[in-house]
Amino acid sequence: MRRRHLALTGFSIALWFGGIGSALAAQEEPAPIEAAQSRGTADERAASMVTLMTLDEKLTLLEGYFGTDFPAARFEAPAEARYGSAGYVPGIPRLGIPPQWQADAGLGVATQGGAAEKRARTALPSGLATAATWDPALARAAGAMIGAEARADGFNVMLGGSVNLMREPRNGRNFEYAGEDPLLAGTMVGAQIAGVQSNRIISTVKHFAVNDQETNRNDGNAVVEEGALRMSDLLAFQLAIERGEPGAVMCSYNRVGGTHACENPFLLTEVLREHWHFPGYVLSDWGGVHSTAASANAGLDQESGYGLQRDGWFAADKLRAALAAGEISEERIDLMAARILRSMFVHGLIDDPVSEGQPIDFPAHRAVSRQAAEAGIVLLKNERGLLPLAASASRIAVIGGHADKGVLSGGGSSQVYPEGTNAVPGIEPTSWPGPVVYYPSSPLAALEALLPNAQFQFVDGADHEAAVRAAAWADVSIVFATQWASESIDVSLTLPDAQNELIESVALANRQTVVVLETGGPVLMPWADHVPAIVEAWYPGSAGGEAIANVLTGKVNPSGHLPATFPRSLDQLPYPDEPRKGDLVYDEGAAVGYKWFDLNGHEPQFPFGHGLSYTTFALGHLAVTPEGDGLAAMLEVTNTGDRAGADVVQIYVSGKGWDAPRRLAGFAKVELQPGERKRVTVHVDPRLLATWRANRPGWTLPSGVYEVSVGHSSRDLAETVSIELPGAFLPPDWRPKR
Ligand code: BGC
Repeated sequence: MRRRHLALTGFSIALWFGGIGSALAAQEEPAPIEAAQSRGTADERAASMVTLMTLDEKLTLLEGYFGTDFPAARFEAPAEARYGSAGYVPGIPRLGIPPQWQADAGLGVATQGGAAEKRARTALPSGLATAATWDPALARAAGAMIGAEARADGFNVMLGGSVNLMREPRNGRNFEYAGEDPLLAGTMVGAQIAGVQSNRIISTVKHFAVNDQETNRNDGNAVVEEGALRMSDLLAFQLAIERGEPGAVMCSYNRVGGTHACENPFLLTEVLREHWHFPGYVLSDWGGVHSTAASANAGLDQESGYGLQRDGWFAADKLRAALAAGEISEERIDLMAARILRSMFVHGLIDDPVSEGQPIDFPAHRAVSRQAAEAGIVLLKNERGLLPLAASASRIAVIGGHADKGVLSGGGSSQVYPEGTNAVPGIEPTSWPGPVVYYPSSPLAALEALLPNAQFQFVDGADHEAAVRAAAWADVSIVFATQWASESIDVSLTLPDAQNELIESVALANRQTVVVLETGGPVLMPWADHVPAIVEAWYPGSAGGEAIANVLTGKVNPSGHLPATFPRSLDQLPYPDEPRKGDLVYDEGAAVGYKWFDLNGHEPQFPFGHGLSYTTFALGHLAVTPEGDGLAAMLEVTNTGDRAGADVVQIYVSGKGWDAPRRLAGFAKVELQPGERKRVTVHVDPRLLATWRANRPGWTLPSGVYEVSVGHSSRDLAETVSIELPGAFLPPDWRPKR
């Protein structure tokens, strides 16, 4: 497209800058267009492009369409939208500005459920599984894989970077997110965003902010004291934005402090622009806009998903009317368009346009997904050395979870459709928020391939007596327990379909029982003391069956650690009853997840940070020194066992007057050969030592003594040292030097 404007003359540039009107320029103006396209920084290019645009052209950029037909609203997607996609924003061919083709991207290139035929793509394990790797390099590689498939499909705006904190373990979207801790979540999601964008396309970060449950998600009002919010949900976004530099932020459906997030000046202007200096654009969640002028003036730049709702609040006629009434200024419209264009320039959408139908290296991408799944699987319990499965096990019963066919995935807009086909079609719901999709990667088949001398028996688990008979026959029984979760619904923490009873019965029949969980997030395990081995495999993605089998057999040594607390009972939660409706007053403030458990002295089933290995690690020689306004923690980690493995070294800090006894302040994943010892330095961001008080906006580090611990989980601390810090105050826009 851009090539059309290549016939430049110095004369035409002079004419343009000499102030000849736009009508004349439109006829012979390739020079300024070319200049805007190619000269200067992205900000300069965006600014000069805006000067060339008619009002209609600017408005075109501000309204996005749903990319899929939506018969319920009699909406037909624009013909130029990519098939079955989430969104489409028309381009401006005259100016060489391509359309924005949007797809969901948290776990892979997703396709809307309504699309008759599916786009088969590689699915990563769930976001929570990737967070459980505690390995930002791996998250980046996973993001790069998604971005490569997106580019090959002709998508240039990826709706990923999902970083809402797990305040409510029953949130049906927890599987898309990265857990309960702002440092871990922000680091991992930031790395994934950077990976996606390494393909010269835009990624969002979403859903801004406090969209922490699905119940009543369009209207629920999250109320969190500002200081607490800055140290929890907002800190996760802040870190993800600093590390990933996403081109766009997606504001969420819910209200925050009484105002919908997409028309919330506190979130979109004060926090995002004034304090974080976010230079990209804000787009709405699909159907998340409720006003024209209020949204635009609060900081929303682009409405998404026109067609899903009857009215487009940013439709050209609405914006024109608001302009005419003086409710929005022309400068505001220019700013909105410029922010969108800036991100398009920065992330290569204009210089390096995408095109559909490029080849995809599926085997290589499947390997990326498998590695992420393997590194995120958490060995929760392993008594009597039951795992890895002994090569000598001759009879193995595999029970339940459709393990003969595939592995479960989560539902909703992030659903990636698998290569091959849904391994278990027809499970309800078969339409939104379904279908329920099993990826065709059978753990049973993978186990059979790895243990060719063993005899296997599979029973589906529906008939408990048949399961008990199989367990009684076997040397080892492996029960696969699943729980489907999805966007738009919240879940119970109790495994459905009498699976708890199934596990109890099998455990009674066979002492050597392993439970493998495929769940979106934490579940209650009333049977935890009755089985010797428990493995959390999450939703493990396209190659999940192989990943599970590799871990169970010891081909891969598990190294995942929990990114969220697994409670022992509902009454340990801040809100034990069902997810609430209406005002969600989060009195626990920044004491989210393990911080709440520590504050209240609750003993969880499995704590945040927990994860076992087939080898053992020793931590020691912890020393701490001030570093800038933060800290550096130095320590030694040794593999004291007889297998190679990876340890997740976790640094926790305690300070005075904090919302909770300790915070995760740093971490490192370290690979070690048997007997190997490594020195590790973990850098602690001063904001993790600080508190934010609404009466003094910014990060306050009181002078005094801080306790720094190194451990293998939030409840397994190996060593603690104290350090006295002089105290500091960091302004609201403080960020680390790069
Ligand atoms: C979800 C977003 C998603 C969008 C487009 C919404 O329902 O909340 O996460 O990006 O749909 O599919």
